[in-house]
Amino acid sequence: MTLYDIAKPLLFQLSPETAHWLAHGGLHVVDGTVLEAILKRTFVVEDERLEVSAFGQEFPNPIGVAAGFDKTGQAPGALQALGFGHVEVGGITAEPQEGNPRPRVFRLVEDEAIINRMGLNNPGAAVLGRRLAETDVEHPVGVNLGKSESVPLREAADDYRETYERVAGHGDFYVVNISCPNSTGIRELQNRDSMADIFAALTEAGASPLLVKLSPDLPEPAVEDALDLVDEYDLDGVVATNTTTDRPKNLSSPDRVEKGGLSGKPLEDEATEMVRFVAQRTDVPVIGVGGVFTAADAYRKIRAGASLVQIYTSFIYRGPTVARNVNRGLATLLERDGFDSVEDAVGVDL
Ligand SMILES: Cc1cc2nc3c(=O)[nH]c(=O)nc-3n(C[C@H](O)[C@H](O)[C@H](O)COP(=O)(O)O)c2cc1C
Repeated sequence: MTLYDIAKPLLFQLSPETAHWLAHGGLHVVDGTVLEAILKRTFVVEDERLEVSAFGQEFPNPIGVAAGFDKTGQAPGALQALGFGHVEVGGITAEPQEGNPRPRVFRLVEDEAIINRMGLNNPGAAVLGRRLAETDVEHPVGVNLGKSESVPLREAADDYRETYERVAGHGDFYVVNISCPNSTGIRELQNRDSMADIFAALTEAGASPLLVKLSPDLPEPAVEDALDLVDEYDLDGVVATNTTTDRPKNLSSPDRVEKGGLSGKPLEDEATEMVRFVAQRTDVPVIGVGGVFTAADAYRKIRAGASLVQIYTSFIYRGPTVARNVNRGLATLLERDGFDSVEDAVGVDL
């Protein structure tokens, strides 16, 4: 029995967004204080076999927090003290945004899933940049760059550049998010010309290391186009995947009818297959995300080609022990299969 077993039923009485801000607020209070050291002793798994080097960054373990959890960049230190090896903060836009009207997050408890249509609510890139500048964090922090709702699609490349410039220098890596299903038209940017314009604008502006986050709903030829451009513009990695607008037939929670992006267990296989598809076609590191709840889930993503793995929905369902449990379990799985390190297991199932 963990503290979260007691807290979870109480948190789940609240609306998902209120529960999120409560949990996030708690982490924000801890962030940068001596309490971090106490959390670290409890949650951080120190094991050299879990260390990963990717796009010039050193990660103490492969398990990170996916974009959208720490949208405001107020808790990367506390999240790393919970055992996460990196945090992707944001998504952010050039100016602050309110996002969509509430309610906009739904728990599909029976399906271990979430549907969200937040719409990139965030405090704006300059605020996030200042926060990161004041934060002393041990492990890598990535910044998820979104498109401003008010900017027409044809001006998207300049808008991404503007967002990047306001946060430049404060992230250890940058992820261009062209796959959020909750921001008007953003996924239409996943075509060759738009992606080329965006990648050109960001690389010219000096965004590096730069990764692109793709949608699991993208048809294979479009993924191939994206990967050609990753190569052409010398991007440093691919994040697969964002949430899906698909609704698998076997969802049973009443809220399955809500509009938005579905995350969690029902996304797992599709996301793993996309990791495999991408890893087969590119040499850059892949961050695998979608439905990872356990060490076995993370291990499947790694074996399918992911160098790093991120988590969002299982953090809500499993609570603060999730990174520790996944990391401990991963070490056991590596040992069982005779691998000396995570890096040795990356892509063995390709
Ligand atoms: C409430 C919520 C907000 C999210 N916000 C973002 C975002 O701002 N940018 C982004 O690239 N992905 C965002 N995501 C997608 C996650 O980063 C992740 O790709 C997706 O949830 C799949 O992982 P999971 O099954 O572990 O949750 C969000 C997900 C959720 C549930």
